[in-house]
Amino acid sequence: MTAPMAHTVGPRSVACRAMRAVQITELTGPDTALALVDLPDPEPSHFMTPGRGVVVDVRAAGVSFPEVLQTRGLYQLKHDLPFVPGSEVAGIVRSAPEGAAVRPGDRVAAFCVLGGFAEVAVAPEHMTFALPDGFDFAQGAALILNYHTAYFALAQRGRLREGETVLVHGAAGGVGTASLQVAKGLGARTIAVVSSDEKERVAREAGADEVVRSDGDWKDAAKAWSGGGVDVVLDPVGGDRFTDSLRSLAEGGRLIVVGFTGGAIPEVRVNRLLLNNTEVIGAGWGSFVMSKPQASIEIGAEVDRLARAGFIRPIVGARFPLERTAEALNLIDGRGALGKVVLEP
Ligand SMILES: NC(=O)c1ccc[n+]([C@@H]2O[C@H](COP(=O)([O-])OP(=O)(O)OC[C@H]3O[C@@H](n4cnc5c(N)ncnc54)[C@H](OP(=O)(O)O)[C@@H]3O)[C@@H](O)[C@H]2O)c1
Repeated sequence: MTAPMAHTVGPRSVACRAMRAVQITELTGPDTALALVDLPDPEPSHFMTPGRGVVVDVRAAGVSFPEVLQTRGLYQLKHDLPFVPGSEVAGIVRSAPEGAAVRPGDRVAAFCVLGGFAEVAVAPEHMTFALPDGFDFAQGAALILNYHTAYFALAQRGRLREGETVLVHGAAGGVGTASLQVAKGLGARTIAVVSSDEKERVAREAGADEVVRSDGDWKDAAKAWSGGGVDVVLDPVGGDRFTDSLRSLAEGGRLIVVGFTGGAIPEVRVNRLLLNNTEVIGAGWGSFVMSKPQASIEIGAEVDRLARAGFIRPIVGARFPLERTAEALNLIDGRGALGKVVLEP
């Protein structure tokens, strides 16, 4: 990462405060795409809610797969260069619009979409949530993207019911650990698919009832363990395990498509769905809630309820300062992330 600053805005002062931030300046991958810069503090306005926005003094910023893709220009949403990546943060509210549910001084988790890899970020009100008691800021930075996605995918899209069985791929990763915890909170039995001993330990810490290896006969193990087939598969990985995921479903089972960390986007031979009365369901949390403030608030309330009941405790596997953002991205890129990776500005 380029340091010191790629451009500066002069000394910090109350009149014209500056913050440190990480920008993506070119699309050449984590090692060379980033620059640590000084920028003016952001205005209290978010592009989704022009003229209104919650300004947060960032204590921790979540790092996720989309930011890896952004350093290569491969993410589905493109932005003009340079820009500050970082979709979610936790910190202390510096200012909030009149009528907002949060106030200056509150500890919050906030989904800012962009701009999170910085000392100050701005989020829409409907994507800013009080941090549950007992959560540190790193856990707060792990709360929204993964847990809101897990709740949306399992409860709302996948119609998961108490007593059902859920198989989670990539179960030691960010979405995976969140999905295991949310599934337990919804009363399901959980089986985790992981690729190493260390990841097995993390999946068990996240509450997996059973753990199987992605390089072993996980399909038959899952069918045997569940008594004939699982009710729901949550899949953030995709690739060549997709067909076996369909085969591992019980009659009436649902396979929820969440992401493609495995690289390849699978294709479905739909006769498989007909034969066993199964479904493939897409779950795109971001595109669903962005334009629906009430949906975001409702999911936030359910996630908060599960956190207060003790089911949700984000597992933070690695913490880096802003200067080491490239290392954080490479950890995810190299399949090494355990739970959530965060930056601590
Ligand atoms: N649909 C939505 O609304 C939504 C929301 C959030 C995230 N996502 C997507 O969900 C996916 C997972 O995100 P995450 O934050 O959980 O990522 P993560 O923490 O890096 O975990 C991903 C897991 O995927 C598995 N994996 C298998 N093949 C891989 C490969 N070639 N490279 C890297 N990982 C591989 C790894 O588990 P094993 O090593 O155990 O196989 C890894 O732990 C991403 O594609 C992300 O964009 C979607």
